[in-house]
Amino acid sequence: MLEEETDPWRIILLAFLVFLGVSLVLGNSLDTDRVVLLDLKSSLEESNKVNRGHYSEWNLSSSNPCDWKGITCNYNRVTGVNLSGSSISGTLFLNFSNLTELSHLDLSSNTLGGQIPADLSHCNNLVYLNLSHNILDSELSLTGLSNLQTLDLSKNRIRGGIQTSVPAICNSLVVLNISENNLTGSIEDVFDQCDKLRYLDLSMNDFSGNIWIWFGRLQKFIIYDNYLNGNIPASSFTANCSLEVLDLSGNNFSGQFPGEISNCQDLIILHLWGNKFKGPIPPEIGSIASLEALFLGNNSFSRDIPESLLDLKNLDFLDLSRNNFGGEIQGTLGKFTQVKYLVLHTNSYTGGLYSSGILNLSNVVRLDLSFNNFSGPLPSEVSRMPSLKYLTLAYNQFNGSIPLEYGDFPHLQALDLSFNELTGTIPLSLGKLSSLLWLMLANNQFVGKIPPEIGNCSSLLWLNLANNKLSGNLPAELSNIGQNPIATFESNQQSGRIIPGSGECLMMKRWIPADYPPFRFVYDILSRKTCWSVWDQLLKGVWLFPICAHGTLVRTNQISGYVQLSGNKLSGEIPSDIGKMHNFSMLHLGVNNFSGKFPQEIGELPLMVLNISVNRFSGEIPREIGEIKRLQNLDLSSNNFSGTFPASLNDLTWLSKFNVSYNPLIYGVIYVTGQLAKFEKESFLGDPLLVIGSIPHRPLHPSANHTRSGTKKAPKLIIFPVIFALVLTFLAFGILSFIHFSSVKSSLCYR
Ligand SMILES: *[C@@H]1O[C@H](CO)[C@@H](O)[C@H](O)[C@H]1NC(C)=O
Ligand SMILES: *[C@@H]1O[C@H](CO)[C@@H](O)[C@H](O)[C@H]1NC(C)=O
Ligand SMILES: *[C@@H]1O[C@H](CO)[C@@H](O)[C@H](O)[C@H]1NC(C)=O
Ligand SMILES: *[C@@H]1O[C@H](CO)[C@@H](O)[C@H](O)[C@H]1NC(C)=O
Ligand SMILES: *[C@@H]1O[C@H](CO)[C@@H](O)[C@H](O)[C@H]1NC(C)=O
Ligand SMILES: *[C@@H]1O[C@H](CO)[C@@H](O)[C@H](O)[C@H]1NC(C)=O
Ligand SMILES: *[C@@H]1O[C@H](CO)[C@@H](O)[C@H](O)[C@H]1NC(C)=O
Repeated sequence: MLEEETDPWRIILLAFLVFLGVSLVLGNSLDTDRVVLLDLKSSLEESNKVNRGHYSEWNLSSSNPCDWKGITCNYNRVTGVNLSGSSISGTLFLNFSNLTELSHLDLSSNTLGGQIPADLSHCNNLVYLNLSHNILDSELSLTGLSNLQTLDLSKNRIRGGIQTSVPAICNSLVVLNISENNLTGSIEDVFDQCDKLRYLDLSMNDFSGNIWIWFGRLQKFIIYDNYLNGNIPASSFTANCSLEVLDLSGNNFSGQFPGEISNCQDLIILHLWGNKFKGPIPPEIGSIASLEALFLGNNSFSRDIPESLLDLKNLDFLDLSRNNFGGEIQGTLGKFTQVKYLVLHTNSYTGGLYSSGILNLSNVVRLDLSFNNFSGPLPSEVSRMPSLKYLTLAYNQFNGSIPLEYGDFPHLQALDLSFNELTGTIPLSLGKLSSLLWLMLANNQFVGKIPPEIGNCSSLLWLNLANNKLSGNLPAELSNIGQNPIATFESNQQSGRIIPGSGECLMMKRWIPADYPPFRFVYDILSRKTCWSVWDQLLKGVWLFPICAHGTLVRTNQISGYVQLSGNKLSGEIPSDIGKMHNFSMLHLGVNNFSGKFPQEIGELPLMVLNISVNRFSGEIPREIGEIKRLQNLDLSSNNFSGTFPASLNDLTWLSKFNVSYNPLIYGVIYVTGQLAKFEKESFLGDPLLVIGSIPHRPLHPSANHTRSGTKKAPKLIIFPVIFALVLTFLAFGILSFIHFSSVKSSLCYR
């Protein structure tokens, strides 16, 4: 018997043979792996002729694939391939299963499209598979992958149901992220056999039917923005509930929310926003000591707020918006001394600002009382809320004037009083608000001058005073706003991630106007995820889109703001100091009584929008406007400009909206070539001295009888598909990708 063979030489010989055999087998297999990887490389190079990732250096650096970038080995076999973010387009490689020891595959953040090939299902050793952030559009089928622990397919276009595909692979699954796809059907029994599952993200799909009731055993269960309905059964919250994040928001769940949620003693975020829950807010929630954020908005909860919630010592975020609460603000709310974000917008409150005591809450950073029925004078007491940064009182019926005390907030970053019935003058004390980023006073009845002191608001980038009755000159000092917002942004960067809000982008939508060109196309489809990351970026001063500063050829990534003063009675000349406003890309001065020459310094601003329509500007149109390389929207209509129409405006290759109508004294020629030839006659109404559609380099015949339509059709035919394609691109990529996209694809200011 072998056990009795004690001859040492035999043992050594045996060991040697085993070693030789093993290394021979392994050597061959690493060679096979190498061949497969080189196949992979050439197939990637085949479908990606330019802009290749680090795979193009494989084999050049070393012949051992274990040395190649993105490749991991174990026991001399290739076990991991990471090609995340390698600009790969095309379809998935068909031979991954030939890497027989492959356990980690990461192809995320590319533009891989088409099907998930059957071959991938033969990669039986896969433990980690990340195909997220691609454009895969097949159904989900990965049947053979029974060892998978992490599967991330988020942000693709995968469609169909998951009833059979998920149970087949969920034996060992711990993390499953299939959010942001087009998946449909029921989820009811799908995860019953997934005993190890801890993190499940199904958000932003089209799932319907009832909930999967055993979610209490997960750590994170995220299913926002689907079409799920029915009740949440009490039995879902078993005694051993281990949930930390439960996000059911944006579905159609109804009935009462079970108090058994208190079994989930580790819960940090409870997100019920945007469902049809009714009945009492469960008082049992008050026993979940770890709870930090409670979103109950956009439901039909009954009015009583249980006192037990006051025990939630860690509660930062309380959202009770859109619950039809009327009458006075509930007294309980004034006792949430721990809360930082108190969101009560879109109810029907008529009073209780003082009686509730909410104005004494010393930790509140954001107070949102917008879209209610408050009336009477603005509460001056808010200025004594020492932590307040964002105060939103818009869309109420507040009247009277702004209390002088509103200048006494050292940390205030946003003051939104728009759409009220406020009167009086803008207090010059607001000039003390050195951290202020947003000042929104639009659509009130303010009178008098814009105080020059506002120019001291060195962080102020977004100023909206539209549709009031302001008069007097534009003070030269105003051009000092927003000169140095860095300190404010830096303090926000230090404060970590801003807690995302409740699923609406009301503030964002009001504060970032739709006619702000980068947002124009995506405005209506701002999902709350993109909305809140944009919000987070704005507050931290991260650039959102590149701008063309004066005199540079390359676009820079700089934050930029707007000044919106339209619909007032402002008059006099625009001060030439306006040329200092290098942090602004949108200037709305329309429908006022401004007059005089428009300053040529305008050419120094990195503008995307310039609207000075319906004023009494005279003299020549500054030819320097032609130097604003990224100008997209230019409205000079209904003024009294005279002299020669500046040919330089033809250099504005990004111009997509243009109007010079009703400047009867303007004369000159609009040639059939150049950017301005794109625009229809509606852009040149009431300009009798302007000759439109002239062929360049011919003597000017003011009486020439050119027909516009003949010259205009050809360029329009080209423009339309281009705009259409652009719209589609924007819709497809979403706002953040757009921002990224625009920065990569066109970094030059010309063209
Ligand atoms: C896949 O591997 C087979 C051999 O196993 C080979 O014949 C085929 O060319 C490979 N295909 C690709 C795309 O590399
Ligand atoms: C998958 O890849 C994306 C993008 O590279 C990354 O953000 C994400 O964390 C990965 N998912 C998992 C579960 O590791
Ligand atoms: C799932 O993927 C999305 C998109 O990549 C990501 O934002 C989200 O945080 C992921 N979910 C979890 C629970 O990690
Ligand atoms: C949790 O409790 C339920 C019954 O209350 C039980 O069936 C289940 O096995 C328990 N789960 C764990 C992980 O202990
Ligand atoms: C310019 O502003 C006026 C008044 O606010 C508005 O009616 C007009 O549409 C704007 N023009 C453009 C091109 O956006
Ligand atoms: C327009 O400008 C001309 C001078 O260029 C001036 O004579 C005329 O009074 C102005 N019209 C109005 C309505 O301001
Ligand atoms: C330009 O402004 C005039 C006057 O407000 C308006 O009638 C016309 O429709 C506008 N043209 C375009 C292209 O918007």
